Amino acid sequence: MPLVQFLMMEKEIFLSQIYKEKYMKEINVAVTGGAGQIAYSLLPRLISGETFGRDTKVNLRLIEIPQVVDKLQGTIMELTDCSFEQTGQLVATSDIKEGVKDADWILLVGSIPRGIVIDGKKIEERSDLLKINGGIFTDQGAAIGELAKSDAKILVVGNPANTNALIGMNSANNSTQQWFAMTALDANRAKAQLAEKAAAEISSVKNMIIWGNHSPTMYPDPYNATINGASAAEVINDNQWIEDSYLPLVQQRGKAVIDARGASSAASAANAAIDTVKAVINPTKEGDCFSAAVVSDGSYGIPKGLIFGFPLRTNSNGKIEIIQGIELNEFAQTKIKVTTEELESEREAVADLIG
Ligand code: NAD
Ligand code: LMR
Repeated sequence: MPLVQFLMMEKEIFLSQIYKEKYMKEINVAVTGGAGQIAYSLLPRLISGETFGRDTKVNLRLIEIPQVVDKLQGTIMELTDCSFEQTGQLVATSDIKEGVKDADWILLVGSIPRGIVIDGKKIEERSDLLKINGGIFTDQGAAIGELAKSDAKILVVGNPANTNALIGMNSANNSTQQWFAMTALDANRAKAQLAEKAAAEISSVKNMIIWGNHSPTMYPDPYNATINGASAAEVINDNQWIEDSYLPLVQQRGKAVIDARGASSAASAANAAIDTVKAVINPTKEGDCFSAAVVSDGSYGIPKGLIFGFPLRTNSNGKIEIIQGIELNEFAQTKIKVTTEELESEREAVADLIG
């Protein structure tokens, strides 16, 4: 290679290093369940610039139970080998306090998935996981409330996500931090079904709201979802399909994936987690919303304090709001009542964990 070309290349590398050191923002992101199957799809996308931006260096803390934490060294080798410019420090720990200290974002993925057999009994429903997983979120919540940044955002993926988030948030007892439970996977599933039925592009489906619980009682609203600006239910014009096919398919998609692949959804779950983070940190486009469960402030008559799936918007100042004024027909109201009652009974079941 000619000397001049070589020197130019060296200069570019030197300048890009200076830029990285001087001008890149830096954030701390903690992920529990770092050695699990969702994490395997999730982690590279958190540190590649895709999620937090090319100008943001991500320090990643991977948190695992002590029996598994050593395996994370292999994950760290792989993440290092991805050689992303945005990758900062990579740390593995089984100490939740070390993991969440000064964290900007915490993704609580670590927990047991359904489908497995415990004490000779197969765990069939996500709510059956309450007693097994619920306890994890008290200690993690307390550590987050005490040690993570005051404006930390917490996304609960581990099931049952809404009630685990309720436990964690109560334990954290820190009103400036913001807790979310993931319903974006349900929204993506619903969008895909509506687009396919209407023979429309996925990008034409907007305003997809998942009301309530990430469970078979969720209500993936086809009336307020739009396809090219018109109500999806009106475009599809087939109420029988909506009630007998679309709703049960979206509500039971997690189980269908488990039955088909012998393990719960991982790539699509990781993708939905990335979608949620991006939706929270970027302003929402006009005429659209994003789906996640947040603490109810009484909007739409939902009891205050429940972690409930609502239509959300991120404003240009970064504030996340529950979108008001969405019309709910009688069908929607019946469905929302069912999912509300389920969340209330889950809250009762973990009353001892939320004080
Ligand atoms: P997995 O079993 O592959 O991985 C879970 C990991 O969590 C394991 O490595 C385990 O050691 C770790 N873990 C357990 N307890 C922990 C603790 N206290 N601290 C840190 N780590 C801990 O499971 P997965 O497929 O990655 O799924 C994880 C969870 O996500 C499950 O509860 C699953 O049901 C849920 N999930 C939710 C959605 C959603 O849409 N909300 C979608 C898919 C899966
Ligand atoms: C999903 O919806 O795929 C997850 O919640 C996993 C499950 O148990 O269904």
